[in-house]
Amino acid sequence: MRKRTVKDIDVRDKCVLLRVDFNVPLKDGEVTDDARIRGALPTIHYLIEHGAKVIACSHLGRPKGIDESLRLRSVAERLSELISKPIKTADDCIGPEVEAAAASLKPGEVLLLENLRFHSEEEANDPAFAQALASLANVYVNDAFGAAHRAHASTAGVADYLPAVAGLLMEKELNFLGGALAEPERPFAAVIGGAKISDKIDFLSNILTKVDKLMIGGGMANTFLKAEGQEIGHSLVEDEQLDTARSIISQARERGVQLLLPADVIAAEKAAADARFITTAVNAVPEHSAIVDIGPMTMSVFARSVDSCRTVLWNGPMGIFEMPPFAIGSYAVARSIASLDNATTILGGGETGAVAAALGLEGHYSHVSTGGGASLEFLEGKELPGVAALMDVPG
Ligand code: 3PG
Repeated sequence: MRKRTVKDIDVRDKCVLLRVDFNVPLKDGEVTDDARIRGALPTIHYLIEHGAKVIACSHLGRPKGIDESLRLRSVAERLSELISKPIKTADDCIGPEVEAAAASLKPGEVLLLENLRFHSEEEANDPAFAQALASLANVYVNDAFGAAHRAHASTAGVADYLPAVAGLLMEKELNFLGGALAEPERPFAAVIGGAKISDKIDFLSNILTKVDKLMIGGGMANTFLKAEGQEIGHSLVEDEQLDTARSIISQARERGVQLLLPADVIAAEKAAADARFITTAVNAVPEHSAIVDIGPMTMSVFARSVDSCRTVLWNGPMGIFEMPPFAIGSYAVARSIASLDNATTILGGGETGAVAAALGLEGHYSHVSTGGGASLEFLEGKELPGVAALMDVPG
């Protein structure tokens, strides 16, 4: 079902409660990755240009009560720099002072409320708290795709009290991720990595019913390799998921999905950046070594395989990418997908986005999701509470 967006309503002179996901990484109080703030800029610019009074709100981290280190101060500074305009801030997200600040906003001005999670009522989806937030505004715009898998007061509850529409980032996320699931241009390939199958069982099962090709790397590939009878030394493996892996392998066969597992790997003595490592075929991983990345032959097989595709979805690193020697496989996949000119290329958020960002390649994909858990749940085929709460386009 298509959702109404900010473009479907009149926002001029209205107070707009804009839920954004400014849950960004901080180091020494400074924002170290502002991708999520930049992701919300199209909606913020749209609202400013259309004369709305913007009351932005977000969570940051997982505080239990007020936590001085999780105030949105530096986020506000970064947002102000990015929109080249001063913004107002508040010490709380509800209450008389916030109400006064909201009431004094002029069209085109932006007020950023304090961390929503300083109130436990936010995560409890408390109706009185949702109503207090709603009372600040005339309409609600949800642009926080990254938090849409949470049924919290500001992502779901507030929609009981205000007309609720999607922001432009939310719309983009739903169009790309939803489009890939619903009507991908074919051939459609998914490249899936990450440490564990158990984190992605529902995603693997769902995507298997959509794709033409499935490439698996990362720690989770080890369990598939073991399920196929390969010797994988002392690599990370989920023995309790061997049956899941076997079932995915046989479902792929039944559906005619081409399943590609690593043919060669990097095997290291231990998972440490200074560990000694070798490149080896998967059937020759030394007994005392662990697989830490895909090998060069696998990188070119994966590259060739995505080359002919019209839709490519990538979720999860191919190795221990936090350790530079074992990031090569993830970087190779990032580069192969970035080089595709005639394909819709979609990156799941979280670590996958971080790999692309490390190479400065974010702009080379059709879409890099700002959602980690949210994009995964969406790709599992689940309805996200923050999306369900928004008004449907009639008909
Ligand atoms: C995220 O970073 O995935 C979102 O902002 C949601 O945060 P949460 O997992 O703390 O709810």
